[in-house]
Amino acid sequence: MAIDFSKYIASVKDFPNKGIVFRDITPILQDGDLYRAATHELAEYAKSRKADVIVGPEARGFIVGCPVATELGLGFVPARKPHKLPREVERASYDLEYGSNSLEMHKDAIKPGQRVVICDDLMATAGTLRASKELIENLGGKLVGAAFYIELPDLKGREKLPDVDIYSLVQYH
Ligand code: ADE
Repeated sequence: MAIDFSKYIASVKDFPNKGIVFRDITPILQDGDLYRAATHELAEYAKSRKADVIVGPEARGFIVGCPVATELGLGFVPARKPHKLPREVERASYDLEYGSNSLEMHKDAIKPGQRVVICDDLMATAGTLRASKELIENLGGKLVGAAFYIELPDLKGREKLPDVDIYSLVQYH
């Protein structure tokens, strides 16, 4: 039977700012069976999209995406906050549900034509997803899907990126 992952996500009011309900995935990560099950769901999705490589945005995208990559025997590419990567980078900026930032990827991280699935914990306004898509495409990759533990559909992320195939385990309205 499918697991209801929402039972294992903690909702924290007014964190990090007043008016935000923070969806905390650490209870899933703390439990080996749940973490493996959530990883497996995303890995099945990435496999169905015929992914060649997994991209994970810093920082929770590393936690979510790395085990998906290893389950499938695929490479993992980190999309990092500025000035963390040591070699030549591509950069894109984005807005968040709260705040804004930039992401960078090494210029040689994606090979032209590679099919890429992005993995992250949560899609809110889809700012991180848009920036990651821009980086992947600028490097010659093809974004074939994005997989999340959590989606906040009221923030209309899907509408901002109608050409991106999106998968999520739990939706909060
Ligand atoms: N990132 C953006 N919005 C968030 C939220 N409501 N909970 C957890 N992470 C987030």
